[in-house]
Amino acid sequence: MSRIELFREKLKECNLEGFVLYNMEASNRSSSWYLSGFSGSFSVLIVTPKDEYIVTDSRYFTQAEMETKFKLIPYRNGDELKDIIRTTLARDGASRVGFEEETISVGFYNRVFSQLGVELKPADDLLKDMRMVKTPEEVEKIKLAVKIAEDALTETLNFVKPGRSEEEICASLEYEIRKRGGNLAFETIVGSGPRSAIVHGRPSERKLREGDFLLIDYGARVNGYNSDITRTYCIGDPTEEMARVYATVLKAQTEAKNAAKAGVVGSRLHEVAASIIGEAGYGEFFGHGLGHSLGMDTHDGPGLSPKNNDPIPAGAVITIEPGIYLPGKFGVRIEDDCYFCENEIEVLTNLDRELKIL
Ligand code: GLY
Ligand code: MN
Ligand code: MN
Repeated sequence: MSRIELFREKLKECNLEGFVLYNMEASNRSSSWYLSGFSGSFSVLIVTPKDEYIVTDSRYFTQAEMETKFKLIPYRNGDELKDIIRTTLARDGASRVGFEEETISVGFYNRVFSQLGVELKPADDLLKDMRMVKTPEEVEKIKLAVKIAEDALTETLNFVKPGRSEEEICASLEYEIRKRGGNLAFETIVGSGPRSAIVHGRPSERKLREGDFLLIDYGARVNGYNSDITRTYCIGDPTEEMARVYATVLKAQTEAKNAAKAGVVGSRLHEVAASIIGEAGYGEFFGHGLGHSLGMDTHDGPGLSPKNNDPIPAGAVITIEPGIYLPGKFGVRIEDDCYFCENEIEVLTNLDRELKIL
């Protein structure tokens, strides 16, 4: 069944006759791309009982013809979006219409959605649930994003040594990703020494010194799919405490991976890692969730947080990324991308995890 056919099945199950998906300044690019194939920054997708349409402006007429089978409705200067959507829905007989309340503003709801003259029903879960379960083709795309990211970091590690700044390391890594045809999945995190304890730290001018941890959290976006990887390296020999913390994070990650498979409840896997970190005495220094769904967005859906009491479906790709962050001292995180199968996971990331001294 094609993606749009599956989506139509879901519309039926929800007793909906149509759907409108709004994407402005890339606000909802991933879902629009996922459903229609169109990768531009402005689109309104309209699904009716009769057809599928894409509204976009002249920047994207050619691209829309190339990327999607949805019928193009040109949006020209002076047109009113609400009139285009209203007349399309009415002409095709869609009066119960789904939309995403989480991805539009109150202003847009008031100006456009509230004026469509149809019965509106929030249906954010339709695409979210579909996107969470990856097809084998999607997993291949994530694998390519992983490969480009891993090759880029492997190359950059040749350049890492005391005296290099976090910004220089970040610039090298991003250049190596771009050179291989990737874009950035998100703002690259590079933190060294005490700055490695800043969970999502921006790279600074700080230069690496002997005895630092170097935490790098980064990813490549390739053909719309992301990788998200963290490795923590040691510059010179670690102290005994650094080695202990690193070993604890690695153990937490390994045990969580061993317990991971489709059907396991998200919060339960978080607990596997959190209890190992807690028993080692660092519980208060692991404040974030163990992982998140990964795909066309880096944070693509729910994952392994204490709040997620749902089972992880077969086909999900989820990060497993425990960390310990000691403010003013150092931080360690190890993050892998994992494909959840019936009886186990396939770990899509391959870079070494044993403590590496650079
Ligand atoms: N880099 C963001 C994250 O790991 O969730
Ligand atoms: Mn990450
Ligand atoms: Mn992550």
